[in-house]
Amino acid sequence: MIQVLEKIDDKIDLISMKNDNIEVVVSNFGCTIVKVLMKDKDGNIDDVVLGYDDFSSYSTLDAYLGALVGRIANRIKRGKFSLNDKEYTLAVNNVPNHLHGGIKGFSYQVFDYEIKDENTIEFHYISKDGEEGYPGTLDFKAIYTLNDDTLNVHYLASCDQDTIINITNHSYFNLSGKKENIYNHKLTLKADKFACVDNDGLPTGEFRNVEGTPFDFNAGALIGDRVEVDYDQLIAGAGFDHPFIFSASENQAILEHKESGRRLTVTTTLPGAQIYTANYLDGRLGKYGQHYYKRDAVCIETQNLPDAIHLEEEPTTILKKGQIYDETTSYKFEVIR
Ligand code: BGC
Repeated sequence: MIQVLEKIDDKIDLISMKNDNIEVVVSNFGCTIVKVLMKDKDGNIDDVVLGYDDFSSYSTLDAYLGALVGRIANRIKRGKFSLNDKEYTLAVNNVPNHLHGGIKGFSYQVFDYEIKDENTIEFHYISKDGEEGYPGTLDFKAIYTLNDDTLNVHYLASCDQDTIINITNHSYFNLSGKKENIYNHKLTLKADKFACVDNDGLPTGEFRNVEGTPFDFNAGALIGDRVEVDYDQLIAGAGFDHPFIFSASENQAILEHKESGRRLTVTTTLPGAQIYTANYLDGRLGKYGQHYYKRDAVCIETQNLPDAIHLEEEPTTILKKGQIYDETTSYKFEVIR
């Protein structure tokens, strides 16, 4: 069942998507996932994503809790890129680079929406030519469907000019319901390679095999056993804040918390994900009066390679006029006994 829970103001709503397994609360402000309420192995319900009780924090604070990120997630080197021999300048909002779509990217925009049926909400936004410096008028849709224990997020876009796009969702997961940090969360990633980053979080162009490094999550490992290891790339990222390149086409990321019996399985059509261990959460006030610190959550930000426009010979983030950007990521929230 889908229903409007609350009107934040005349444009922004909180909407509940609910079935017997799970309740997901979303907003048309940034297509934000505000709550994911699920049972543990004993039937107790907790919220397994970070967010804010004070809704204004979504527009004033910068960590993108639960938000859809666009037009380009992650960084673009020095906020500049060329497309069809024309140079474009974007906001340098994460000095010295552009981050997460700029000052007022998709995370901060109000989307139109329509409740399509008892499981589906379709969000719609027209991003004007030149918005945040990006070329072309982009017609964008995000379709959220809740089926049993799975939230399916489908992104569709087209543009009246050649442009670039790389959409993600920036949910911060903590399957304990934030009763503890993520050290006891087991992460499995089907990824043989990761991209190295510099001290500003920008991919350097070097790719490393995960084998023999703290980045090898193929067999699953507790985040706490890895994230503080003395390893050059963990120092550069202040923890995990890296693009992993997937080597499988489904169930690419699995997060498990043994004590609660909760498991999240992420499947995506996208080629990789930024794994971010909330390295820069600074004690801000979040939901239920709790304060959020580093390692209190992990983000699994499915996406194309960050800064692809500079790093790839044929950048996968280019969307040509007339083409359709069509990507899906699903999040399955299960209880395992
Ligand atoms: C970035 C981090 C950044 C965070 C919040 C992540 O996707 O990689 O470096 O601090 O988003 O903006």
